[in-house]
Amino acid sequence: MHIIGIAAQKGGAGKSTIAAHLAILADRDASPALLVDTDPQGSLVLWHRLRSAETPILAKAEAKTLPEILEAAKDHKVKWCIVDSAPHAASAISAVMKVADLVLIPSRPSAFDLGAIEPTLRQAEAMRARSLVVLNAVPPRRGFGRTTVEMEARAVLDSYSARVWSGSITQRAAFSSAISGGMSVDELEPGGAAAQEIGALWTTIKDELESK
Ligand SMILES: Nc1ncnc2c1ncn2[C@@H]1O[C@H](COP(=O)(O)OP(=O)(O)OP(=O)(O)O)[C@@H](O)[C@H]1O
Ligand SMILES: [Mg+2]
Repeated sequence: MHIIGIAAQKGGAGKSTIAAHLAILADRDASPALLVDTDPQGSLVLWHRLRSAETPILAKAEAKTLPEILEAAKDHKVKWCIVDSAPHAASAISAVMKVADLVLIPSRPSAFDLGAIEPTLRQAEAMRARSLVVLNAVPPRRGFGRTTVEMEARAVLDSYSARVWSGSITQRAAFSSAISGGMSVDELEPGGAAAQEIGALWTTIKDELESK
């Protein structure tokens, strides 16, 4: 079983949006994928309730009970498990980092958001957890190449010696519309630009974890 944790101290970074999308893509690779919502806000529970499909399976749990849930998932031959976490919750994030094969750390590209991820990066380092920063909600590109905002964000992340995904997720209405409707961007706009971006992130993660 491969466990993908999603963590960031900052609220609104895009953790739950990315978790929901990766769970759907993981479920297409090997069903059922398991999505664990450890955030007391229960954002993914609401999203999952709106879905008609039964999979990915959703479990709501406290972060400290993750080991038991993951054991049960292993017994049921689940291949992919995605764990979403709450903001401002260092101890819950630590429980996620302990069990994850890869910890995704989403961040918006603004200075305040980037500043807030350094403690999460250091926490991952201290726990020897493999991490990957994902720039989310970046301003749309005009033409080819990265925008100045994205380039500046990458320079800050370089100064933290962070491992950063080479792609990025653009700020697109499709992401919020899809989540509000219990869907993924690919279900809402098959083959659209948003679906391609999240698909590229999934391919990177899948390749990395399967080659471990
Ligand atoms: N790439 C994106 N494009 C457009 N809107 C986005 C994008 N990513 C996230 N959002 C929106 O930003 C808001 C916060 O996203 P989300 O709930 O996924 O963040 P979070 O990190 O899980 O927040 P919290 O810390 O409260 O759990 C939501 O309204 C979501 O629809
Ligand atoms: Mg959330």
